[in-house]
Amino acid sequence: MFWLKTRIIGGKGSLEKLRKETSGYERVLIMASNSMRRYGFLDEAENYVREAGAEVLSITGLPAEPSVDVIEDFLPRVREFEPDLLVALGGGSVIDTTKALKVFYDAPELNFEEIAFIDRFSKPKSVPKLKTKLIAVPSTSGAGSEVSGASVLKKGGIKYNVVTPEIAPDVAILDPRLPMAMPREVARNSGLDVLVHGIEAYTTKAANDFSDAMAIKAIKTVFDYLEKSLEGDEKAREKMHYAATMAGIAFLNARLGLCHAMSHKAAWIGSHGLLNAIFIPHVMEFNARRSEYARKRYDEIARELGLNDWRALIEAVKGLNERTGVPKLSEIVDEETFMGRLDEMAEKAYRDGLLSFNPVEAKPKEIKELYLKVYKS
Ligand SMILES: [Fe+2]
Repeated sequence: MFWLKTRIIGGKGSLEKLRKETSGYERVLIMASNSMRRYGFLDEAENYVREAGAEVLSITGLPAEPSVDVIEDFLPRVREFEPDLLVALGGGSVIDTTKALKVFYDAPELNFEEIAFIDRFSKPKSVPKLKTKLIAVPSTSGAGSEVSGASVLKKGGIKYNVVTPEIAPDVAILDPRLPMAMPREVARNSGLDVLVHGIEAYTTKAANDFSDAMAIKAIKTVFDYLEKSLEGDEKAREKMHYAATMAGIAFLNARLGLCHAMSHKAAWIGSHGLLNAIFIPHVMEFNARRSEYARKRYDEIARELGLNDWRALIEAVKGLNERTGVPKLSEIVDEETFMGRLDEMAEKAYRDGLLSFNPVEAKPKEIKELYLKVYKS
């Protein structure tokens, strides 16, 4: 009913806990984003590892979207170094890349296509036991990858999903100094993604009391702190950092729904969190009109926020979008390009694994209409 593999360490300056967490290991590989190098956090992390008595190798300059090719490129270097501990220091894509690397490194015999989901109708083989420990240190507050057992990998233009507790990080270090460096737009988009994780996780068919607690706390935190966090308030940004992980714990158990299915297939348009923010009010309306369960669940969220009902909740979500400057879909993609890919997106969203968890089963035609409705709004 509820699982969490990851031990969570938090607090300002908690990056320092790497010293203790890496002691006893011999060779530590750190996968880091360029921004973590630029802000000095990579140097700091390397020092803690050396103080613990381990050798360290750092790899930076990872692309925004993890692909099988990129991992195959640096795998020989990793094999030569033979790390006995992996550290991912960066945003969701750095953590996802490190998880995928762990699969290839620990189980070289594995045929990756066989263990990955392409859509909800695929039946992948289960992943064997993977031995190398993984520590995730997220620098953004949104993706929840520091607790989840999922990694999205591209190969030949197709996105493959590897989902297994084997790749869920063993430890997550949540140091609020790291997300302080996020530019406002990244903080907004990832913060709104946290809200959508909370709302969708609360409303799926797999939601339960335990995931609900995490989802509700994350949702409340976004409404209470996102705007202050965007103004650069340190405490608010710290709260948002923890809320991102809480929402991650919620969706790790309760999964997500139609909004994420739609934004995944529209990923070519813009950032993940931004697309979710644009789609969510329309998806909520769609679900609420068709499902009594969805209405009841949105009503519950509304009451937790001191609002009347699901309609007021949708208005509150729209209001937050407006106040934080979320654009309209038609402002970020031109009509011809959008219409040209509409059928393909609707068909693929219908096949997305997450649709099975949405409170309402949506047909390709309905998803197409929903995409159109968002575009025209
Ligand atoms: Fe998301």
